[in-house]
Amino acid sequence: METFHIRTFGCQMNRHDSERMAGLLVEEGLTPVRDVQDADVVVFNTCCVREHAEDRMNGQLASLKVLKDDRVVLIAVGGCVGQKDRGRLLARHPHVDVVFGTQNLAELPSLLRSAETSGSVVSVSDGTAAPASELPSRRDRSWHAWIAIAVGCDNRCTYCIVPSVRGPERSRPLEDVVDEVSHAVADGVVEITLLGQNVNSYGRDLYSHPRFAELLEAVSAAGPQRVRFTTSHPKDLSDETIRVLADEPRVCRWLHLPVQSGSSRVLERMGRTYDRDDYLALVDRVYDAVPDIALTTDIMVGFPGETEEDFEDTLDIVGRCRFDQAFTFIYSPREGTPAVDMGAHVPRDVVQERFDRLVDLVKVSALTKNEALVGTVQDVLVEGPSKRDGTLLLARTEGNKIVHFLPPAGRTPEELVGTFLDVRIETASTWFLRGRIRG
Ligand code: 5AD
Ligand code: SF4
Repeated sequence: METFHIRTFGCQMNRHDSERMAGLLVEEGLTPVRDVQDADVVVFNTCCVREHAEDRMNGQLASLKVLKDDRVVLIAVGGCVGQKDRGRLLARHPHVDVVFGTQNLAELPSLLRSAETSGSVVSVSDGTAAPASELPSRRDRSWHAWIAIAVGCDNRCTYCIVPSVRGPERSRPLEDVVDEVSHAVADGVVEITLLGQNVNSYGRDLYSHPRFAELLEAVSAAGPQRVRFTTSHPKDLSDETIRVLADEPRVCRWLHLPVQSGSSRVLERMGRTYDRDDYLALVDRVYDAVPDIALTTDIMVGFPGETEEDFEDTLDIVGRCRFDQAFTFIYSPREGTPAVDMGAHVPRDVVQERFDRLVDLVKVSALTKNEALVGTVQDVLVEGPSKRDGTLLLARTEGNKIVHFLPPAGRTPEELVGTFLDVRIETASTWFLRGRIRG
């Protein structure tokens, strides 16, 4: 075993877990490779939130068999599908050597060694162990660190498989999180993203009441230039957290606040525990406190029993909330979740037609918000050369929007990565902005 390749499916928590798996393997003396063909160890970090992600992963996993026919390669499957399917994964894909669960990440090096000498292994714990504190990380972006503040979820959204594969919510002690942030800052990280399925309830299990606003302040004081966080459940977003968003300059004025549906009837069936008016009132409070905040959301179409009227309520809420971006999903039935037994399946063509209408409206909303930035000067963090046009730089605003612009004369993209520049926004499109360095 000398080289490894990790393929990540799904959410930011998985991207973070992949960086930790990479850190552990580098510590074992392995070297990461870009091309799967060159890897002695291939790790799939998987997602089961929607069927589509799982199907894609299963297809790619099946095609790895060819690699194994050619030479000795170890294949490990971890993350949410590993947790859910366990030994069944081996039955379906006999060429897999290691299956590990969401709580078994730190065992990856020893599981690989064991598979190398004694054949396939499965390690999936159901425990409710405290989240691992700091593990080595090999960061994809040197200037950015993901920091998990809690793992698992105590909510019971009726469509969602996450609580069953990630377990109950367990927060990390505040000091532990702040220490990890300080270490990342000492390593040169300038932006951190705090992660949890519901960051707003952070601390409820450890301290008997949520302490997210306090954590945000403590993390900001540890020195990163930018602090982001995701995801916020609307029912738990406190006025204190909104105040920190408004007052703490290091906390980015960006909020991801999944609405899921604009219909109170559907929200109730989803088990979201807020209704349409609660959400609208919350969004008003957020805009009142932070008028220029970038607001993003998740929306699902085709939940069991969704009527045309329910869907029109969703379109209406999108119109009212002035979202900067919305991630739109078609409902995907997940075995073992309560929604599967609700019946009232919405026909595929109806769902698709609703989905297309929703996406059109989201695009209008995103463009309107981007156009409002034309003429403003934004403090942007450079990520590297633009993929569309290598002569341009790609950077992100505080609101997490992509901006393309020409580098300052005589500076290469490489030396600007991870630095901040002032850019005047000149034109806006739906998903990105163009600007010019303020001279
Ligand atoms: N089907 C479709 N979308 C889902 N999500 C979660 N579970 C499902 C499902 N079964 C969406 C929600 C969530 C986002 C991460 O994924 O919108 O906020
Ligand atoms: Fe799933 Fe709801 Fe928990 Fe989010 S809050 S992870 S949607 S159960």
